Amino acid sequence: MTTINNPFVMYGYKGAEYFCDREKETEKMMTSLHNERNITLVAPRRMGKTGLIHHVFQQLEKQYDDVKCFYLDIFATKNLEQMVQLMASEIIGKLDTISQSALRKVQEFFSSWRPTLTIDELTGIPTFSLDLKPNEGRESLKRIFEYMKQSGKRCYVAIDEFQQIMNYPENGVEALIRSYIQFLPNVYFVFSGSQQHMMEEMFLSANRPFFQSSLVMSLPCIAESKYLSFANRLLSSQKREVDVDTFTYIYSQA
Ligand SMILES: Nc1ncnc2c1ncn2[C@@H]1O[C@H](COP(=O)(O)OP(=O)(O)OP(=O)(O)O)[C@@H](O)[C@H]1O
Ligand SMILES: [Mg+2]
Repeated sequence: MTTINNPFVMYGYKGAEYFCDREKETEKMMTSLHNERNITLVAPRRMGKTGLIHHVFQQLEKQYDDVKCFYLDIFATKNLEQMVQLMASEIIGKLDTISQSALRKVQEFFSSWRPTLTIDELTGIPTFSLDLKPNEGRESLKRIFEYMKQSGKRCYVAIDEFQQIMNYPENGVEALIRSYIQFLPNVYFVFSGSQQHMMEEMFLSANRPFFQSSLVMSLPCIAESKYLSFANRLLSSQKREVDVDTFTYIYSQA
């Protein structure tokens, strides 16, 4: 295993070793997704939503065969087309084993949008981008969902910063996505966001498309005692330790 300089991870997810607690939430998310329930994760900034999604996805892929997890962060997308383009690059081609015939199949499946293929020099992983004309977002989104459906694989798709879709200029993106997800027997979703009121409005208002479409979860702070033992486990490898009083002080400042 590669060691990292700072075991207290500031960005991204570096593996279960550096991930503290969240046992109950991990279990709840894994069980719900396995039982074909979509999840909505709502919690304030920096509470650990993104980390938890990666953690759950890593466990799911480890535990079950033929499961494929996709993580999309749509924070930087400004409209439906950009979201579709992001989905295309993350998802298309990743459900097939890399072979000439599989790549040809993908090319044919998305032929209306002349997919361009780039291959990562280091990993050999193919990435597709689509040639989308204005107003083709809806059709191509549908095609991406069809692609996941026909793969026969069990797919989990996380859309992080999901409230961003409310800022898209196109009308009815919420209803559009909602209408697709209910007809995909092998694809389940995690919608995550930190804008509490926007997320709650979308998922808890009876007049909105996503009403009662998923299990809504929030994330509490990690308990002090759990984090103390986690910190000391990591520090012990550097032959260091933090005492309870010092830790209580640091914890109360956070
Ligand atoms: N369970 C955990 N154990 C250890 N570190 C964690 C844990 N959860 C989150 N972190 C760390 O805390 C920081 C914030 O977590 P994360 O990015 O997951 O939060 P977030 O809720 O997605 O925040 P934002 O709303 O800003 O996207 C990250 O550096 C992450 O590595
Ligand atoms: Mg996040």
